[in-house]
Amino acid sequence: MKITLSVIKADIGSIGGHIRPSQRLIGAVRSHIMQHGNDMLRDSHVSSTGDDIAILMAHERGPGDEEIHRLAWEAFLAGTAVAQEQGLYGAGQDLLKDAFSGNVRGMGPAVCEFEFDERPSEPFLFFAADKTDPGAYNLPLYLAFADPMNTPGLMLAPSMTAGFRFVIMDVNHTEGDRIIELEAPEDLYDIAVLLRDTERYVVESIWSRASGEQAVTVSTSRLHNIAGKYTGKDDPVMLVRVQKDFPATGEILAPYAIGPYVAGCMRGSHQMPLMPVPRNSDISYFDGPPVVSCTAFSMHDGKFTEPVDAFAHPFWDKVRDRVADKAIDMRRQGFFGAAMLPMSELEYTGIMEKLQVLDGRFRLRD
Ligand code: F6R
Ligand code: MG
Ligand code: MG
Repeated sequence: MKITLSVIKADIGSIGGHIRPSQRLIGAVRSHIMQHGNDMLRDSHVSSTGDDIAILMAHERGPGDEEIHRLAWEAFLAGTAVAQEQGLYGAGQDLLKDAFSGNVRGMGPAVCEFEFDERPSEPFLFFAADKTDPGAYNLPLYLAFADPMNTPGLMLAPSMTAGFRFVIMDVNHTEGDRIIELEAPEDLYDIAVLLRDTERYVVESIWSRASGEQAVTVSTSRLHNIAGKYTGKDDPVMLVRVQKDFPATGEILAPYAIGPYVAGCMRGSHQMPLMPVPRNSDISYFDGPPVVSCTAFSMHDGKFTEPVDAFAHPFWDKVRDRVADKAIDMRRQGFFGAAMLPMSELEYTGIMEKLQVLDGRFRLRD
């Protein structure tokens, strides 16, 4: 059976700043999907990570389907009405266009989706991150799909030894999708050259070279490219099919123990470590730290099992403690050096304006 999994997510308002959406707001999105999605969807799941709400949908209509996208857009409009009524912060902030025009891509919400022949057992992982951008997944994906130090399956599993194809997008290119396809392991160094630059080059998808099957889809939108200015970090979502021809769940999860420094956190303008958190977690310290949640499902005939929280295990408490220490250490250096993002990535224009004024006051000494 051919199934499409689509995740469409947006920040449409949250309590007390950028902490989390209200229960009523999540309820409004969920009941819109229940009421209007029944005929189209095999199954759905609505959840929040930080201030973002994600709608996960299983259906048979293929990626980019107008009615699926309209359903999500209208669910977010219904949620925005609640956000306005409750006076939530940033009500409707990611809905950047007034009228739906066939596809939510380019309208503010983030999207990742793929279509595949459902395996008899179809385990998959749904990731949602807040207070960071899509490049945050570059390192975990590189390690999971290209490095045998992380993924013994690359040596042990015959279906994985042929490696994986990485499709990487240049997200600074706004006139269309500018992509490159590179193959691991032959192109390993080229993949690394691109993925180190997380603000420009982002993994968009990963494919098994043995079977040609798609393993990964990542949302790659950059809000500032759509709005022409910064309107918040892009808080990416990702789907990963696991086991058999693909890395095991544990191989996909392992890199998150690093807690790598990523772009985002306070005012979308800092470098802070990425903390793996339980589902439906809030945001706190320094409008962060950047967080990532992971929900595991199995699926049959497009129907989900109950969700399992992949970062709830006690192992991750230790990781969270270490990430908190890294976060506090980085904050001790305030605005200095690596703590803040380069000029081109700051979410506010204040520094630019100040620099312009100061520039006029520079003089050449005789
Ligand atoms: C991302 C996020 C932040 C804010 C940023 C700007 O989820 O919440 O990137 O968008 O801190 O916040 P405001 O709009 O309050 O200045
Ligand atoms: Mg926000
Ligand atoms: Mg957010």
